[in-house]
Amino acid sequence: MKAAVLHKIGETPKYEDYPDPKPKNEHEMVVHVKAAAIKNIEKMIANGSHYDAVDHLPMVMGFDGVAVTEDGRRVLAGSPNGMMAEKAVVPKGFVVPVPDELDDATAASLFNAGISAWFALSWRGKIKQGDSVLIMGATGVAGKMAVQLARYFGATYVAAAGRDAEALQRVSELGADEVISLAQSDEALSKAFTTLAKNHPLNCVIDFIWGHPAEILLDALTGHDLEADAHVTRYVQVGEMAGARISLAAATLRSAGIEMYGQGGGSVPKEEMGRLMTDIIPKLLQLAVEGKVKVDTEVVQLSDVEKVWSRSDLHGKRLVLIP
Ligand SMILES: NC(=O)c1ccc[n+]([C@@H]2O[C@H](COP(=O)([O-])OP(=O)(O)OC[C@H]3O[C@@H](n4cnc5c(N)ncnc54)[C@H](OP(=O)(O)O)[C@@H]3O)[C@@H](O)[C@H]2O)c1
Repeated sequence: MKAAVLHKIGETPKYEDYPDPKPKNEHEMVVHVKAAAIKNIEKMIANGSHYDAVDHLPMVMGFDGVAVTEDGRRVLAGSPNGMMAEKAVVPKGFVVPVPDELDDATAASLFNAGISAWFALSWRGKIKQGDSVLIMGATGVAGKMAVQLARYFGATYVAAAGRDAEALQRVSELGADEVISLAQSDEALSKAFTTLAKNHPLNCVIDFIWGHPAEILLDALTGHDLEADAHVTRYVQVGEMAGARISLAAATLRSAGIEMYGQGGGSVPKEEMGRLMTDIIPKLLQLAVEGKVKVDTEVVQLSDVEKVWSRSDLHGKRLVLIP
């Protein structure tokens, strides 16, 4: 079969021949891949910056995608064995039927962004009706998903921060009450965060970017009143597009009710993960059918994987490989 194959950490995956995958036991099956989205996790695995260990090379890239089973069912599937290929082996229990109304690229783009936003908001963020939420990196695919899901979970005020002006416009169309440009001076950004937190005390921050914008935000959330009644802000760390490390003042945690969490592979408990294919993915697909969550996609051929892998002009669009 043809596949996107990574030979060495630090290289770009190449489109080439690769042996057909074979199920290891009766709990796995072969599927014919229709669409697989390129996400940051695969880019980080390929460039060696992800914490997940690569145990064998060469490897076929791609953790999830839309595929057709041998008995003709179109499914959204997760696979540890590589979905950026004509064929993949997936666990039989890790597939969800894709509703006819959804195209392959849309369904394939929901998996990673949808899961991260869902877990971050519901499991870590404990979001509830009436909450005020700030999404950092709201212009990305996962960020836009978080804006829409925050609304679905009942947030009454959704603020969204991002750099790209056009993408921020799109975030407004998707339902953000307020957009904050990260492309402004530190002073102006700090003021925008302070004003937001004053007018809409934040119950939850979902942060897809970390780095310097997180430092400015956390400084802005730092309290200055010993008598203040602590307002709890659950700060959920999800991604690191603006930097992997930050400097955090001790006083920030002492002076305000900030609770910091992370959400990603390795931190989600089994019970939550157990709901993934039975509840969460079917619900995300249904919300997409109803138009309550939208993803912006661009379709490219699997054969172009090497050419498109490092594209940086997407600003909130998911690139989807079609074998
Ligand atoms: N933990 C998990 O389960 C999980 C799951 C999914 C994603 N993630 C992580 O979440 C992050 C976003 O993922 P995504 O799928 O939304 O990616 P994406 O679609 O590529 O979006 C990237 C986002 O990062 C912003 N960005 C990039 N470089 C930046 C910088 N130097 N400073 C400030 N903002 C910057 C972009 O802003 P502009 O476009 O406005 O410039 C955009 O909002 C990634 O780090 C990804 O690995 C984690």
